[in-house]
Amino acid sequence: MDLDRNNAENSAIRGNGGACYRRPENNVAAQDMRGWWEARHTQPRFRPRYPNEEVVRWFFRSVRRDGSRPPRVLDLGAGSGRHSLFFAREGCETYACDISRTGLEALEELARQQGLIVANSICSTDDLSGYPDDFFDGLLCFGVLCYLDLASIQRTVAEMFRVLRPGGSLLCATRTINDSRILGAYPVSSSVWHVPSGDHEVAVDTDMDMAFFDRDEIERLFARFGSLEIGRMTVAFSTSPSISFS
Ligand SMILES: C[S@@+](CC[C@H](N)C(=O)[O-])C[C@H]1O[C@@H](n2cnc3c(N)ncnc32)[C@H](O)[C@@H]1O
Repeated sequence: MDLDRNNAENSAIRGNGGACYRRPENNVAAQDMRGWWEARHTQPRFRPRYPNEEVVRWFFRSVRRDGSRPPRVLDLGAGSGRHSLFFAREGCETYACDISRTGLEALEELARQQGLIVANSICSTDDLSGYPDDFFDGLLCFGVLCYLDLASIQRTVAEMFRVLRPGGSLLCATRTINDSRILGAYPVSSSVWHVPSGDHEVAVDTDMDMAFFDRDEIERLFARFGSLEIGRMTVAFSTSPSISFS
């Protein structure tokens, strides 16, 4: 989703990428997933380096660069920071937050190697109290919301609205009900499904709760943002080592 914030209006949502987290017993808060994420971030396969092309497109199209000062951008749930590093390379004043210390340490090391500055903060997306109101020109939340329960998602959206300056833009990529993982999943609560382990196209992100959004839910969640643009991203998986694109 790609959202713009303009005074009382703004925002757009574009795309559906995704992510997930292991099912905690009794719906524990997202922060309790920290250990699970820490373990993931120790594995190189969970440290992608290449920024998603929708993020690149959104940045050049929607994040203000009028030359008076560098754009101020926050990468929520940054992980090892492929997008934070991209923003920093583009001259942004770049901030990254994540619940995983390991992820942010990887980001810090990569930033150091590349001579870039990224201000990291360990915090949950649903409590951005370390950042002032109306502070950011751009917010990115890529592949994070679908790991949260609905209450946490709602708090996250409220926090994103608070820290995004009027006229700023948010790009949020999450999973939708068109995601193949929903096949065989069962609903747990509004928008949240339990994805059992089993024979999935994708071997990761199973045996856990995951939020899948439909268009109405996206519109409800982001109603405060004036302009909302909803698009679709498709991720293809193959078991074959040779993939050809045409
Ligand atoms: C699938 S990864 C995506 C990472 C990054 N956005 C990217 O596109 O490469 C999801 C990230 O969200 C983080 N995360 C999960 N729940 C979070 C929360 N409640 N607050 C902040 N970060 C969270 C995880 O630690 C992980 O780094």
